[in-house]
Amino acid sequence: MDDGGDWVRVASAAGLAKGEMKPVEAAGRDLALYHLDDGSWRASDNVCTHAHALLTDGWLEGCIIECPLHAGRFDLRNGAGLGAPIERDLTVYPVRVDGDDVFVLIPPA
Ligand code: FES
Repeated sequence: MDDGGDWVRVASAAGLAKGEMKPVEAAGRDLALYHLDDGSWRASDNVCTHAHALLTDGWLEGCIIECPLHAGRFDLRNGAGLGAPIERDLTVYPVRVDGDDVFVLIPPA
């Protein structure tokens, strides 16, 4: 038991090609898992901070995710919103890959 959160397995690494993303669930949260073109992995909340849209229904380009509803964009390296209509940054989560297992660090409730 520590207070740094829990690493939760969310996916098989082989199941998500580079440049792809998919919705996953961890500890009751709806998350988006991204396998970027450069081979790195990212995770974020899947619901846009602007209104209710799933980012995994949008477009992934490099480390930028674009929302399908009003084209708001976020930088997945830090969750920063990139201009209107986004007013609130996106929560991102650390990702670790161990063999074929992809884990996301869920902070304490
Ligand atoms: S709901 Fe995502 S930009 Fe509006």
